[in-house]
Amino acid sequence: MIEEKITTGDFLPTDMDEPLRPKTFADFVGQEGVKQNIAVFVEAAKMRGKQLDHVILYGPPGLGKTTLAKIIASELGQSIKIISAPSLEKQGDLMALLTSLEEHDVLFIDEIHRLRRQLEEVLYSAMEDFKVDIIIGEGTGAKTLRISLPPFTLIGATTRMGDLTGPLRSRFGIIERFDYYDVGSLEKILARSAGILGVKITPDGIHEIARRSRGTPRIANRLLKRVADFALVEKRLPVEREFADYALRRLGVDEKGLDEMDRRILKVIIEQYRGGPVGLSALAASVNEEMETIEDVYEPFLIQQGFLQRTPRGRVATRLAYEHIGLTFPEEEGWLFRGDTK
Ligand SMILES: Nc1ncnc2c1ncn2[C@@H]1O[C@H](COP(=O)(O)OP(=O)(O)OP(=O)(O)O)[C@@H](O)[C@H]1O
Ligand SMILES: [Mg+2]
Repeated sequence: MIEEKITTGDFLPTDMDEPLRPKTFADFVGQEGVKQNIAVFVEAAKMRGKQLDHVILYGPPGLGKTTLAKIIASELGQSIKIISAPSLEKQGDLMALLTSLEEHDVLFIDEIHRLRRQLEEVLYSAMEDFKVDIIIGEGTGAKTLRISLPPFTLIGATTRMGDLTGPLRSRFGIIERFDYYDVGSLEKILARSAGILGVKITPDGIHEIARRSRGTPRIANRLLKRVADFALVEKRLPVEREFADYALRRLGVDEKGLDEMDRRILKVIIEQYRGGPVGLSALAASVNEEMETIEDVYEPFLIQQGFLQRTPRGRVATRLAYEHIGLTFPEEEGWLFRGDTK
């Protein structure tokens, strides 16, 4: 049997997602607090005839930050330019982008915590005064030319709010945090996606995928597509709960929605580090994954679900983690050495 493994580390933007991406506030399910606040700020900006204040959207990958940024631009009736911070190398790259904006347009910078320092400094005056300084020439003959920009809205997205510098953070007037979706919201998202993709699936089938999607719409949509592939080939449409369960197992997604890497992380902590605490770099080396990916993608979900704890001395596997992996929790050592709260 060929097993297809899905890992959540794969969070490259994919155009394949495009048809499933909601286009309006009304289509955007969940994140109610964020959505309602933003809708008000957008409305107010439109009533004033001014640009929307700069926005930062943060939270784990795949929860809809890029999607919401696009919706904001479209609800403002403005164009959006999308760029990923690591792809901006020179000051000139950013200048070119800034000077190409039209009044009240949206500039979306993804992974804004990875913006180079010199570029960040360009942004300060661009965001605050809508001005940038260009240096022409070199040495003693160098001259500074100040260029005015049209008022625009910067939307920054990041999975790591803590990595943003103070000066940059303070220039955003709207700061919104994304949380994992509840099962009900994911069911709505999946029902809509199934409709768009033409996948026949029962409400129970949808529920099964929703509750095993790590609270993440991107993962839910991907699992739906792969489950639908199995169903098509094995002639099991419409997809029912049992078949969804079977297909999800083949995809390496377990009962609790953990994937291969989630389980490997827990196993390594338990088996190689006696349950922890273990530092991030040692853990990353042991599971052969980037530290940043572990911190941004895997840990937040494992912590939220109660499998992992972060202590000052490192990561610790909880009783739930032992039980899930099928091992006995070492009671004695447990609370003596590992600072668990009982
Ligand atoms: N609220 C939502 N309702 C319906 N679908 C959603 C919602 N949020 C996200 N999606 C779906 O999930 C996919 C991923 O969303 P998006 O690319 O916006 O996530 P992201 O937060 O920008 O992730 P990353 O941090 O990896 O850039 C989208 O293509 C979209 O189809
Ligand atoms: Mg994105």
